[in-house]
Amino acid sequence: MLSYENALFTVQVTRKHFFKDKNYSLYLFNDELVMTDDITKQPKYNLKMNLTTTIKWILEEKRIVGFEFSYNNGYKIVYGQKLNLLKEMIAGKIFYQPILSFYQFQMEMGSGMTGSVYRCVAADNANLYYAIKKIDKLKIAQHEGGIPQLVHELSLLSSLSHPNIVKLKETYADNQYYYIIMEYINGRTLYSELSSRQYGLSIVETIKIMRELLEAVSYIHDKGVMHRDINPLNIMKADTVKLIDFGLARKIKNQLNFPTSGTPGYMAPEIINYNKDKQYDEKADIYSLGCLLYKLLTGENLFNTKSAKQTIYHANKDGYFELKKQPQHPEVNSVKMEQLFILLPYMLETDPSNRLSAKICLAIIEEIDNNNQNVDRLIKKILIRKSLNTTTIEEQRSCERISKGKIAKQSIDGISKKSLDELSIFTKKVMVQNQQKVILPHKKQA
Ligand SMILES: Nc1ncnc2c1ncn2[C@@H]1O[C@H](COP(=O)(O)OP(=O)(O)O)[C@@H](O)[C@H]1O
Ligand SMILES: [Mg+2]
Repeated sequence: MLSYENALFTVQVTRKHFFKDKNYSLYLFNDELVMTDDITKQPKYNLKMNLTTTIKWILEEKRIVGFEFSYNNGYKIVYGQKLNLLKEMIAGKIFYQPILSFYQFQMEMGSGMTGSVYRCVAADNANLYYAIKKIDKLKIAQHEGGIPQLVHELSLLSSLSHPNIVKLKETYADNQYYYIIMEYINGRTLYSELSSRQYGLSIVETIKIMRELLEAVSYIHDKGVMHRDINPLNIMKADTVKLIDFGLARKIKNQLNFPTSGTPGYMAPEIINYNKDKQYDEKADIYSLGCLLYKLLTGENLFNTKSAKQTIYHANKDGYFELKKQPQHPEVNSVKMEQLFILLPYMLETDPSNRLSAKICLAIIEEIDNNNQNVDRLIKKILIRKSLNTTTIEEQRSCERISKGKIAKQSIDGISKKSLDELSIFTKKVMVQNQQKVILPHKKQA
């Protein structure tokens, strides 16, 4: 039995009949919407609040006056007041119609495998911009993952709320297309930003971008979600940066298979060499962020086709890279550049269990921003704590201490010989050559 007093929203609605109209009370709950004329009986109509449900809003003079829904292979219409409030409350949970009553398409901003993204304005307010991803139903059905993957993307995105993650507003569907209404980001992709900056971005910009991205990524990782396709095309830069395109995002401990996916040049070794017996996890996103950090600092791709006659995909698959500072970068000799280059190999560690987490990377970058010149020692200390089975909570606390600049005074000299030996497991053989060149010999992938 439903407990009607727990309804999130309630309103009276009417079904118009030829002789006599019929009144129902509409109750909205988290996962269903019911309409009933007698709460002691089974409700007359019941709509699931998930993406298997579509409703069509009925408008008169641009005002919502009712909605149509499918019921027993037919359609029913109810009329009522305050339905615009209902529309806001269930936004993104179910599909709406008709898109053109609410949005005007203006121009295409980008396109991908299954459709295009358009800039749009609200039909009743030409000053309100939105981005709408229009997805061809036939194309997505043929695509790997198909419609279930799209529904997964939408339900994941609607569960996220973070200043550095694109916000999902509503979802629409008609016979031919799905439409994902998102906040409009008035900026450009990092890809386009980087194309006009041959030698990379300044350290200040790089640190700001990385901090914001790491905030977003540790937020999704905490929620058990990984993005799986972090690359410059899926990051928009406006006043702040925002992570977009959750088309490949997944629950970390999930039921669906994890096929190989991502963008060549930004893929973690465990994804590119995926095998069914070995599941991967959110650490794959850190590897992509490492590839991105290198690109931001140098303007160069970590994996390129220059040295060998191979594609980026193969270079990425082989997992061989060199970390070289960009001699043309105006800040090439700065302390912060040095410290960021010390962090890089820890993000690009082949073995995901040795790769730093988003929270630790964030704490380290904050330290670099605060002029800490001992990032190497700091990371090693954290890794020692980790190897000595420090719990996650303690790990988090140490992060908090680091980010508040209150690193415990006990020096690394106080650490036992045994833990220093353990340390060597993690220590990168980073060789500094010619003041400006850091080369990291990297294990070849099997
Ligand atoms: N919310 C948005 N605001 C502005 N532009 C966007 C937005 N979302 C996407 N875009 C643009 O559309 C392009 C494709 O979007 P994306 O979600 O990455 O789709 P795809 O699955 O096709 O890669 C982006 O690279 C960007 O240029
Ligand atoms: Mg994309």
